[in-house]
Amino acid sequence: MYDSEIKVLVKERYGKIGRTGSSCCPTKGSCCGNAPPEEISKNIGYSEDEMNAVPQGANLGLGCGNPIALASIKEGETVLDLGSGPGFDSFLAAGRVGPTGKVIGVDMTPEMINRARENAAKGNYSNVQFRPGELEDLPVDDNSVDVIVSNCVINLVPDKKKAFEEAFRVLKPGGRMMISDLVLRQELPDRIRKSIEGYVGCICGAAMKDAYLDAIRSAGFDEVAVIEESAFSLDFIVGDSIDQATDQSQKMSAEEVNGFADSISSIKVRAIKPR
Ligand SMILES: C[S@@+](CC[C@H](N)C(=O)[O-])C[C@H]1O[C@@H](n2cnc3c(N)ncnc32)[C@H](O)[C@@H]1O
Repeated sequence: MYDSEIKVLVKERYGKIGRTGSSCCPTKGSCCGNAPPEEISKNIGYSEDEMNAVPQGANLGLGCGNPIALASIKEGETVLDLGSGPGFDSFLAAGRVGPTGKVIGVDMTPEMINRARENAAKGNYSNVQFRPGELEDLPVDDNSVDVIVSNCVINLVPDKKKAFEEAFRVLKPGGRMMISDLVLRQELPDRIRKSIEGYVGCICGAAMKDAYLDAIRSAGFDEVAVIEESAFSLDFIVGDSIDQATDQSQKMSAEEVNGFADSISSIKVRAIKPR
């Protein structure tokens, strides 16, 4: 599959989630499971207070970690949320930067941008803006951002190196990036790796952990460190993606499923743009 085809599929899938808006749970094969968004979010590190602090509909349970918790965001800073979706992390960051700061969310799916903008209006946020755009060609000025956050997005981006180069370009010297994402600890079985359902379900686009960290370093970042790493429950990632990724005649055995589950890690990565 070409990168452009992958993007169309990712846009279609997240467009549907953005349109329906309530929860991703009825949508098979999205980057989340069948559990309610609150349960997913609690499981991946969001507090009740954080979940209650954002407009209803901003948390659709699409993340795979809580990058805001460790990003040490300060008042007055400019934060960029890569792949902001319905805006959950952008709104949390807005609370941290306060009225003198600014948050920019970028997402390539128009329905997600619309939903995030509606959520911003609902919550009367004056310090958050959502811009349509791709991570590989960010609609953001050079050297203009203090902090980049991103939650469960770069695994969906075919050209991860380009996305990290763009992140590097827009960060101010000394700026920091904090990402939650899914990576692989071992290669996936071929029939899963090649499946579209698996791709949009946040599995098959995931890179091997070392390649992912190398892509960040080769974009120019320093002090690249994995701050947290945990096995990620398939229940909370893929919902029916595995079932859909393997046709009925090729269902995986319990052993295969367990091996497959062991292949996926949720990581929090921190990196700095050198001064
Ligand atoms: C799994 S959702 C995560 C949304 C949000 N970060 C959250 O935690 O709620 C992935 C989002 O990334 C966006 N996305 C995927 N690939 C992208 C790309 N190349 N450029 C911009 N946005 C992208 C999708 O449109 C979708 O809204």
